[in-house]
Amino acid sequence: MRIGVIGTKWGLMHVGAFRAAGAEVVALCGQQVGHTREVAAREGIPLATTSVRELCAAVDAVVVASPDALHREHVELALDAGRAVLCEKPLTRTREEARALVERVRTATRPCAVNFPYRMLPPLQVLRAWLSERTAHHLVVTVRNNFVPTDVLEPGAYVGRSADFGGLSHVLDAALWLTGTTPTWVQASLSGRPVHTAALHVGLSSGTVLVLTHAASPEPGLHGGWSLLGEHWEAGFSGGFVPAREGWCVSPVRCFEAGAWRDLAPGLEPRPGAREPWAEAHVETARRFLARVEGTAAPDVALATVEEAATVQRILSAAMESEDDGRRILLD
Ligand SMILES: NC(=O)c1ccc[n+]([C@@H]2O[C@H](COP(=O)([O-])OP(=O)(O)OC[C@H]3O[C@@H](n4cnc5c(N)ncnc54)[C@H](OP(=O)(O)O)[C@@H]3O)[C@@H](O)[C@H]2O)c1
Repeated sequence: MRIGVIGTKWGLMHVGAFRAAGAEVVALCGQQVGHTREVAAREGIPLATTSVRELCAAVDAVVVASPDALHREHVELALDAGRAVLCEKPLTRTREEARALVERVRTATRPCAVNFPYRMLPPLQVLRAWLSERTAHHLVVTVRNNFVPTDVLEPGAYVGRSADFGGLSHVLDAALWLTGTTPTWVQASLSGRPVHTAALHVGLSSGTVLVLTHAASPEPGLHGGWSLLGEHWEAGFSGGFVPAREGWCVSPVRCFEAGAWRDLAPGLEPRPGAREPWAEAHVETARRFLARVEGTAAPDVALATVEEAATVQRILSAAMESEDDGRRILLD
């Protein structure tokens, strides 16, 4: 399988992942020709181009890892060329663009999926299976995030409206995926323009309420705490990118049931000689995507669909609307 990657920064994570999954990476597309050639030469990728059309002509499947604002255009170009597509999160910058992609994918001849690596972390897969027999009352997530842009460009400007506030789409998708639910309403309070800190309540179809705080933090890395609370049980874990460990760490997933705590799944951490856990999650996405494209696997719930990614975009748009109007927004 010949893969083309659009994007020379995070795109390199996919170059490594698809190679590890057994594919050939034959084309790289960037914006600046000199830099793209330099990166392609260093990575041993034969074709370096600034034309998405040229990249599509040389490959069987395309990874879109360009800036969020270009995802819709790049996914459409690849699908128009008859190529399978794996698009980086967030799917788009707005609900409208996401809706347009959902429509486009309905008539596509090749598979199109979205990269949400939380779904590929083994402890979360175990937790999801355990939750499939339970309904949570609340899912409480607190994330401190050093990757969120905190600069305010001009007073009152809504820059990057409905983009993913520095990675919130990851968390929203993981929450929906873990609980197997769809959102029904959103109430939000957002700080900063662009948004750097978000407090969200999201009603889910199961009756669960997601209580999410996502705050820009001066501490390097990404630090998340997840708790699921049911009538007679709770479960949880902590996880994120820890710079001092040079990678992702996820605690063991623990549950409290019948009066006692126990481990549901072992944790994850970077280990010498092994692939870093977030990079391994990308390899797992690549494996599953290749199996989908080759038609060797049944539909795979771990690989996010464009519809699911568009649902995340609806929550983000509704959060902006809720902040503007000061009310709960119902999602149809
Ligand atoms: N899943 C994850 O954990 C994760 C982590 C980080 C980022 N991401 C996602 O990955 C995507 C890329 O992020 P990033 O961090 O690499 O930074 P970015 O600034 O969003 O993307 C930069 C890359 O896009 C290329 N580019 C810009 N305009 C282009 C165009 N018109 N045609 C082709 N390529 C173009 C740039 O090329 P030049 O270098 O030549 O200018 C550069 O390689 C984003 O959607 C981001 O949300 C996901």
